[in-house]
Amino acid sequence: MKNFLITGGAGFIGSALVRFLINETEHTVVVVDKLSYAGNLSSLACVTENPRFKFERVDICDRAALDSVFSQHQPDCVMHLAAETHVDRSIDGPIAFIETNIVGTYQLLEAARHYWNALTGDRKKNFLFHHISTDEVFGDLDDTSAFFTEDTPYAPSSPYSATKASSDHLVRAWLRTYGLPVIVTNCSNNYGPYHFPEKLIPLTIINALAGKSLPVYGNGQQVRDWLYVEDHARALYTVVTRGKTGETYNIGGHNERQNIEVVETICCLLEELAPERKLTGLHNYKDLIRYVTDRPGHDQRYAIDARKIERELGWTPLETFESGMRKTVSWFLDNATWWQAILNDRYDGERLGLKK
Ligand code: NAD
Ligand code: DAU
Repeated sequence: MKNFLITGGAGFIGSALVRFLINETEHTVVVVDKLSYAGNLSSLACVTENPRFKFERVDICDRAALDSVFSQHQPDCVMHLAAETHVDRSIDGPIAFIETNIVGTYQLLEAARHYWNALTGDRKKNFLFHHISTDEVFGDLDDTSAFFTEDTPYAPSSPYSATKASSDHLVRAWLRTYGLPVIVTNCSNNYGPYHFPEKLIPLTIINALAGKSLPVYGNGQQVRDWLYVEDHARALYTVVTRGKTGETYNIGGHNERQNIEVVETICCLLEELAPERKLTGLHNYKDLIRYVTDRPGHDQRYAIDARKIERELGWTPLETFESGMRKTVSWFLDNATWWQAILNDRYDGERLGLKK
């Protein structure tokens, strides 16, 4: 049994990972999260009473607080997910991304390094720092037959992806210079339950149910490679338990779709699963689709080559795009209290016209 320190455990992917660790394994978990606008303890409601779960409200930029968490909880493994994650926000205001994604990762690395240096024996030998990153560090692909491999050079386009690229470089430098045992994973777009309402898939579902327009940036032909979040959580656990220190693993779903296809898929699922929730006078959910001004610097296509993690660690996704999207739309239909609370109380969604 191990003790996992999960940063960003109250976010979308972090909470899926924590639910997996508590519900599917015997390990103990301490979540470190500052509860930014994107952090939400209600995403962890089903595990908070479990004696193997602990929560620390801490900003990863606060080194003293991090030292105290390490000293108190004595983790065997750090899984670092805390980050500012929304590309549009990074374009509006990059500083929060620089602070959390770069400075925060640096502070966490230093806290981990000093803690690890003081460990001895097997605890020192088996310690691991797993940095969770994104395929956006590779920039975009024009050629429809090309894929991102673990060796693809970095070419980030947005302030968000540039800060994630910086954090990946810091993590690898802490391995090479100080010997800190690290693993990096770079994953494609996630979707599923508890996805924050500003991202494309939840925004489309929620806006459609409210009879609001469904904004599609530019021509809608940009391609993302979609992975169901619970498949990502399982991949992360596979990597920390079976992965090789110092390695990088790409994680992806083999589910490349144009944005317009994603939005149309959601509309079709809503026609089937929630025809009665369509606003009076609206013929079809698809009639709400509106093409809007493109995102500046918008990456055209992401596509992951996930053969390394499949071949070396035996992980493959369980969900197809069709099964995962059906589960996701159903979850948002059944869990309106979760997202309504965000729209009503906590989220500055006015910018996106989401606030009621
Ligand atoms: P999210 O925005 O849903 O959650 C981020 C979490 O980090 C929140 O709980 C937030 O409160 C916390 N946080 C933010 N700043 C913090 C700080 N300074 N100190 C402590 N906690 C802080 O993000 P997500 O979509 O779950 O992504 C998690 C990680 O996975 C990120 O590192 C992201 O770059 C990476 N990733 C995301 C995707 C995706 O599609 N969402 C894909 C690949 C990789
Ligand atoms: O690829 C992994 C990345 O996926 C993660 O690293 C990021 O943290 C995560 O937010 C996600 O980034 P994207 O920018 O790809 O996700 P988003 O949901 O914001 O947008 C998906 C695509 O849809 C993108 O091409 C932009 C487009 N889009 C987005 C929104 C919010 C629209 O067309 N309309 C919208 O309203």
